[in-house]
Amino acid sequence: MSQWAVFQDHVIVITGAASGFGRILSNKLSVEGAKLVLSDINAEALARVAAELQGSPAPVTQVCDVAVESQVQALITTARETFGRVDIVVNNAGLGTTPKPLIEVTEEDMDINYAVNAKGVFFGIKHGIRQMLSQSPAGGIVLNVASMAGIGGAPTLGAYAAAKHAVVGLTKTAAYEYASSGVRVNAICPFFSPTPLVTDAELGPKMAALARGTPMKRLGDPEEMVEVMLMLMSPANSYMNGQAVAVDGGMSAI
Ligand SMILES: NC(=O)c1ccc[n+]([C@@H]2O[C@H](COP(=O)([O-])OP(=O)(O)OC[C@H]3O[C@@H](n4cnc5c(N)ncnc54)[C@H](O)[C@@H]3O)[C@@H](O)[C@H]2O)c1
Repeated sequence: MSQWAVFQDHVIVITGAASGFGRILSNKLSVEGAKLVLSDINAEALARVAAELQGSPAPVTQVCDVAVESQVQALITTARETFGRVDIVVNNAGLGTTPKPLIEVTEEDMDINYAVNAKGVFFGIKHGIRQMLSQSPAGGIVLNVASMAGIGGAPTLGAYAAAKHAVVGLTKTAAYEYASSGVRVNAICPFFSPTPLVTDAELGPKMAALARGTPMKRLGDPEEMVEVMLMLMSPANSYMNGQAVAVDGGMSAI
């Protein structure tokens, strides 16, 4: 039996499910029999991911721009109306903007990073936890996808780093506020990992040099990041709360 069989029948909402980490996570949870509510801003890619899932039951899909609070609220409502409760929310959707020195960062760069990467996570926390508090039995698990740029400086990625630091602040605050109500909130902080987010962007050509600069001389495979996401969101991980966990091949150890 897979170690992730623990997710069978769990109602799990995932944002940004149409690509990268979200897509891999959806596939792994589907095989385990999780009740998935998958969302993304990209309707076509979301439909493709839903079609490739091997498990049962079939996922519910809903297009959702996490930067729009009413859409995130509607997503949680769909999960409740379909499956009766929400056990886990994975606030994974995110984007990057053109790398540039901080003194070149525009207000628009700040706005889009805050809207999607910070407020999008806030809306997922807010409406996910509201549902978790109202259901019986109350409680649940929230996993936020932050970044190493959420716990340290990130040269040329200033707006992204600011928004990801906000995710860590929200994670710790939510964890403390709702710990006594049976809700746990943690964040994963990946180092660069070759998903479309980085390979399709200007960062793509820099991946080999980035890998050479790491203690392990390689970047983490997206599969390795998703294994840690599963670990963090597992009901078996029952005493970890309010943590921002680096998954960086040892980068932050030096
Ligand atoms: N890949 C990395 O190196 C890396 C490192 C650290 C953190 N992260 C974080 O991991 C998360 C997943 O990224 P990924 O690497 O899988 O990238 P990805 O681009 O492959 O997937 C991100 C998904 O989010 C969706 N999305 C973008 N804006 C959205 C919005 N407004 N509403 C809803 N969905 C939206 C995209 O359509 C896409 O399907 C992000 O939060 C990202 O910041 C990634």
